[in-house]
Order: sequence, then structure tokens, then C-alpha cells
Amino acid sequence: MMTDGVTNRHSSFHIPVMINGFEDQLNGRIVVLRSVSLDDHSIKFHTDIRSPKVILIKKNPKIFFLFYDKEQKIQLKVSGEAKVNYKNNITKDKWQKTAHLSRKCYLATSSPGTISEKPTSGLSKEIENSKYTIEESESGYKNFCIITSKVKSIEWLYLAAKGHRRAKFEYSNSEVKKYWLTP
Ligand SMILES: Cc1cc2nc3c(=O)[nH]c(=O)nc-3n(C[C@H](O)[C@H](O)[C@H](O)COP(=O)(O)O)c2cc1C
Repeated sequence: MMTDGVTNRHSSFHIPVMINGFEDQLNGRIVVLRSVSLDDHSIKFHTDIRSPKVILIKKNPKIFFLFYDKEQKIQLKVSGEAKVNYKNNITKDKWQKTAHLSRKCYLATSSPGTISEKPTSGLSKEIENSKYTIEESESGYKNFCIITSKVKSIEWLYLAAKGHRRAKFEYSNSEVKKYWLTP
């Protein structure tokens, strides 16, 4: 379901809630699931390097993702350790594949979360109206980063009228520990 969530925009697994924090600063938000690797148990999302969530990751790499599919009645609680990819081969490759219009997200002049006197997109009028060339969009690369999260455990919950089912998977280097839990 997570693998399908990467490419299937209609899947609720496409947009998990990502939660992270440091000391008394705890926060959650929706992100788009960009890749899932079954080989090294990692997942990725894209974001703005200036955003508060990245500042938190740098202080504490512990990261948490919450998925829920209403039709399948399945919740996943995924915990892992995050790494910030910035101006490396991973970001370079993805940025080149990032469509002209999608680059708009990285073209705000001020950082995400900056207070403004009036409602704002953070973008200039030209960029808001998509009047920028692909060359002009290149300046967004300095704000673009990819967070890779190495999955340490997954908790699976299935809702059923006769009684729910809950399981936990813990991943270490080559081993997977599996447990059933009381829901
Ligand atoms: C459907 C949806 C998808 C989103 N995808 C992303 C994403 O992939 N990356 C991202 O940084 N923010 C994404 N956001 C915005 C975040 O939820 C959040 O508002 C923003 O990143 C600021 O978060 P922060 O202040 O906690 O850093 C998305 C929001 C929605 C509603």
C-alpha cells in the first residue's frame, strides 16, 4: 500500500502525516510520499530546506509517519530516522525531473512560516501567475531538499467488527522482528 501510495494520487497513503519534534516543539503536517525502498527500508518526501520541520530534523532525526486508509481500514504508524539530502546527487537528479510548475513551491522569497502583514503566497506576482522560465525556476534549487527516512518500525492496525488486529514489525540491519499486539 505504501509503494502504491507513491504513484497513486487517489490513494490515502499518498499523503501521510509526518510528525517530528525537539524538546517541547512537536509538530505534524501532511507531506507527499515520493518514494519507498523495500531494499533499504526507506521512504522519502520533498520539502523546503528553510521550513521549521527541517530545522527540527537537524536537531532530532527521529521521525514518525501516520497513514490511514478508510476503505481498507488500515492504519500504519511508521517510525524512523531522517536524513536531510541537500545539494547532493539525490536532490540534483530529482530537481532536474521536477516539472516547471512544481518548482513554484520552492520559489518563495521568505521562509515557510514567516509572519506576513497580509495574506500571502510568499511568491512574486510573476511567479504566482506562472510567468517564469525554466531557467528562472533554477533559483528554487537552493531551497529544495529531500528527506530520506530509514524505517525502524511499522505498527499495523486493521479495524474489524469482530475485533481489530494489530502487529508490529521492527527492522534492524538484516533482521525483521514481528509481533502480534493486543489492539
Ligand atoms: C495535500 C498536501 C500535501 C503536502 N505536501 C507537502 C510536501 O510534500 N512537502 C512539504 O514540505 N509540505 C507539504 N505540504 C504542506 C505541509 O503540510 C505544511 O503545511 C508545510 O510544509 C509547513 O510545515 P512546517 O511548518 O511544519 O515545516 C502539503 C500539504 C497538503 C495539504
